[in-house]
Amino acid sequence: MKKICTVVGARPQFIKLAVVSRVLREGFQEVLVHTGQHYDHNMSDVFFEEMDIPKPDYNLGISGGNHGQMTGQMLEGIEGVLLKEAPDMLLVFGDTNSTMAGALAAVKLHIPVCHVEAGGRLGTLANPEEVNRIVTDHVASLRFACTPSGMEFLKKEGISDASYLAGDPMYDAFRYYTDRLDGKELDDLRDFSGAPLNLPETFYYMTCHRQENTDTDRKLDQIFQAMESLDAPAVYPVHPRNHDRAERLCREKGYQNILLAQPVGYKCSISLVGRAKKIVTDSGGLQREAFFAGKPCVTVFDHVAWPETMVNNCNQLAEPDKADILAKLGVETSFDPAYQPFGDGHSAEKIVEKIKEFLG
Ligand code: UD1
Ligand code: UDP
Repeated sequence: MKKICTVVGARPQFIKLAVVSRVLREGFQEVLVHTGQHYDHNMSDVFFEEMDIPKPDYNLGISGGNHGQMTGQMLEGIEGVLLKEAPDMLLVFGDTNSTMAGALAAVKLHIPVCHVEAGGRLGTLANPEEVNRIVTDHVASLRFACTPSGMEFLKKEGISDASYLAGDPMYDAFRYYTDRLDGKELDDLRDFSGAPLNLPETFYYMTCHRQENTDTDRKLDQIFQAMESLDAPAVYPVHPRNHDRAERLCREKGYQNILLAQPVGYKCSISLVGRAKKIVTDSGGLQREAFFAGKPCVTVFDHVAWPETMVNNCNQLAEPDKADILAKLGVETSFDPAYQPFGDGHSAEKIVEKIKEFLG
């Protein structure tokens, strides 16, 4: 049986892994490496537990620090695993530092790299994930784009060979786990003290964790001011990156309409998407899930990451600016159920089939 080494490290990768690994393990031996990039229980273990992801074979325990430091340590750690395991292929998802470190370690050892979620481009190297996406795509031997726009970018960069449109594993996951919700997922919501957080009937779902929006008070506070002035509370499970800043800003400014929560598991998150009035986020995953669920979304970011979600104002960009966010939340949207640019919910099967063909 051929051996595939899969490298993951961050929350969105565990979600993609859940659906791809389930199919992959039917025909391959998978060696799972967790870099350790995300390590809090609610950022890591909760996904493995509730999504039935097999326990990693290796956890490298590498997290935090500057980008170069984190990536360098991962590169060294992953290389050690690859030398020991000698896999036939390395599989990575998305665009985190764990993704790029895995890809670089493998290509230097002449191990073919498979990149799932290939072809996303913002057009700026100022975005740390853009660097990871470009490097990973260009060293990969097999690339899977989620959407037609991803395929277009790969073509423009001259790497459309061995690139396939498979659909989005995030859509696979959304469909698979939506069918398996038991209605109790929102009971998992906890405030920062650990006490249960009672949800109002009507609410907005907000997430915000990008370096670009959270590294200073000004932008995050503009987003908070917009949420504070809405007609219903905003539930905000806070990424540990900006836990302290969010807590301090809400306390100092006396915001009452923002319900700060601990990060939640995937099933709770998609339940929040399903129940929310609208979504405000800077997350690549959440803006797609809003689209999957037919919920209007405002993405606080200066570049379009998922062009397919932007039709009919289903997803709109906003500046981190109170007036702009409120204006965009007021815009009419309409969803066309016949328009399904993220595939049919079976991207994992397509990806695994092509891997089989590739490895012969
Ligand atoms: C990373 C990805 C980003 C992705 C996000 C998903 C990169 C460059 N960025 O950003 O693309 O959208 O994951 O959530 O790889 N921390 C904790 N506990 C944890 C995880 C992180 O305290 O469980 C802290 C870290 O110690 C660090 C900070 O949060 O100080 C940021 O974490 P890091 O992994 O560097 O970046 P993310 O913002 O999570
Ligand atoms: N998510 C989650 N718990 C949370 C916040 C988000 O499970 O507290 C899920 C969300 O539904 C989506 C994914 O995490 O599936 C997106 O991850 P994130 O926003 O961290 O990263 P990005 O997609 O921006 O890279």
